[in-house]
Amino acid sequence: MSEEKLITQFGCQPLTPQLLRRIETIAQEKDLDLHPFLRRGIFFSHRDLEKILDDYENKRSFYIYTGRGPSAGSLHLGHLVPFLFTAYLQKLFGVYVVIQITDDEKFLFRKCSMEEIEINALSNIKDIMACGFDPSKTFIFRNTEYIQNMYKNVLRIQAHITNSQAFATFGTQMSDNIGQTSFCALQIAPALYTTFPVLESTKQRCLIPQGIDQDPYFRLGRDVCPRLKHPKPSLIHSGFLMSLGGCGTKMSSSEPKSAIFMTDTPQQIRKKLNASVSGGKESKEDQMLLGADLKVDVAFQYLRYFIPDDQELEDLRNAYGEGGTVTPKLLTSEVKSRCIQIISNLVLVHQESRAQITPELVRQFCTM
Ligand code: TRP
Repeated sequence: MSEEKLITQFGCQPLTPQLLRRIETIAQEKDLDLHPFLRRGIFFSHRDLEKILDDYENKRSFYIYTGRGPSAGSLHLGHLVPFLFTAYLQKLFGVYVVIQITDDEKFLFRKCSMEEIEINALSNIKDIMACGFDPSKTFIFRNTEYIQNMYKNVLRIQAHITNSQAFATFGTQMSDNIGQTSFCALQIAPALYTTFPVLESTKQRCLIPQGIDQDPYFRLGRDVCPRLKHPKPSLIHSGFLMSLGGCGTKMSSSEPKSAIFMTDTPQQIRKKLNASVSGGKESKEDQMLLGADLKVDVAFQYLRYFIPDDQELEDLRNAYGEGGTVTPKLLTSEVKSRCIQIISNLVLVHQESRAQITPELVRQFCTM
């Protein structure tokens, strides 16, 4: 779905400079910068984010909820985006984070075996933990295990959603299995604070960072929550990191060549990025004259997500994207090689952090 359509047709709001300034003021008090994902429009849209900021400024706490469907053993670079961002928000606001592992979803939709999902789930949990969450304020749960605590809210939600609403919202059809139609209640339930005993008496508002494809769940959720006497959850949406195959394609765990995985070696990363789609021109002369098409250039787009320094990104944008008289100039190979450095380093840091995770720490994260 295009960013514009989401905003115009589905009633999301753009993240305005005013909102970003409010977040930046909070960040400055904590000696943090505004996150690059915010500075660069990677998270670009929201619903009711100002209510979360009002709560924070009025010293009312809130909690953050996000999740992951364990469809593959290793996360890829695109999967990391909401988790890195959520860990930043946790640091910024000092709040509780709950992370849902939808093992049920992948069983119903992907037709993976329970055994396979079990293995993927544990592996995904470790990748998520490696993103830097506060162990004392983070709870990761699998639906098949936590269902006992969620079921009353799941029932309340199911009672408020009709089949036709579910069909219209998710495109499910009569021929799909009945679990698929009702799954949405499972994904909505953690947006109700009463799903978690430690939050039950707090009446806290919920903020849900997510990729824009998850918005339909919470559009429905925002409909249902007030009828269950809970606040509507606030949402903040990111776009998608393009696949190595370029524009308009999403990274996919089932296509090893489409994505960089957090388990990849530096050699694999170099090979994949060198083979990625480029927006550079065919000949050196044309590149010098016309510059590259940055929108379709995978290496540049990955740098836009992950290079820490804004000035360096701007310099790359000019030197590579502008043709004509702008100097200095960069060629595709140079941009790719900078991208390889940045991404290899990110993956290495992730692997090191993941290697520190003990079974004891996993238990701590998975207990509330
Ligand atoms: N459905 C999501 C996926 O397939 C997982 C998920 C569950 C999620 N709850 C969420 C994502 C809340 C964002 C926010 O990966």
